[in-house]
Amino acid sequence: MAILAPSLLSANFLHLKEELDSIEQAKATWIHLDVMDGHFAPDLFLGPKLIRDIRMGTSLFLDTHLMVDNPERFVDCLAEAGSDALTFHWEATTKPAYLIKMIRAQNKKVGIAINPETPVSCIAPFLGELDLVLVMAISPGRAGSPFQIEAHQKVDELLQLRQQGHSKFLISVDGGIGTKEIALLKNKADIFVSGSGFFSAMDRLAFVKSVQY
Ligand code: DX5
Ligand code: ZN
Repeated sequence: MAILAPSLLSANFLHLKEELDSIEQAKATWIHLDVMDGHFAPDLFLGPKLIRDIRMGTSLFLDTHLMVDNPERFVDCLAEAGSDALTFHWEATTKPAYLIKMIRAQNKKVGIAINPETPVSCIAPFLGELDLVLVMAISPGRAGSPFQIEAHQKVDELLQLRQQGHSKFLISVDGGIGTKEIALLKNKADIFVSGSGFFSAMDRLAFVKSVQY
C-alpha cells in the first residue's frame, strides 16, 4: 500500500497544531518536512527548532527532505530534532557514502533525492544502501509547479533496478502530485509527497485514501 506524505510547506503555519491534527485525521502516516537553505533551494524553510516543536506535536513519521548544500552540516541536528528519515540531494554533496554512514549512525532511515535533470544512473551505486529514493518532479523549492512527466520514466528505471538488485528502497515522488499523477503512478511509486494538492483538497481523507489502492 502506498503512502501519501503531506508536505508541510503548504500548511498554514498560523494554525500549525490544527494542520498536524488534520493530517492525522486524514489518516496520513507520514509528514514530509522540507528544509531549504536559500542556496541549494531559493527559499528558506524549517530549521531544527521548528522540527523539534513539530515532533512534540505529532507522533507521525517525519520524512525530512534536505534541500541544502553540504547536507552533512545538518544531519546531526535534524536527526536529534526528531526526524525519522533524512533524505539529502545527490547534487548537493561530494560525499554521498559518508552522508549515508552519518545518517545510519543516527539510527535514521536514509534517502537520496535527485533533481529533474539528474539521471537515475548517478545514484545507482548507492541503491543497495538506501531506504528511499526521492524523485523530484519539480525544481527544488518550487511548490505548486506542474509535475514534470520525465519523473515517470525515472520511477520505471528505479523499479527495474530495485528488482534486478533485490534492493528494498522505497520510491518517493515529490512535486506537482495531484489526483491525475497518483493515477499515473499507481502501483509504481511507494510514497507520494504532496503539498498544495493535500492542503487544498476539499476532502483530505479521500485524497490520502486515493493512494491506498
Ligand atoms: C518542493 C518540495 C516539495 C513541495 C511539494 O521542492 O520538495 O515537498 O512541498 O509541493 P507541491 O506538492 O505543491 O508541488
Ligand atoms: Zn520535498
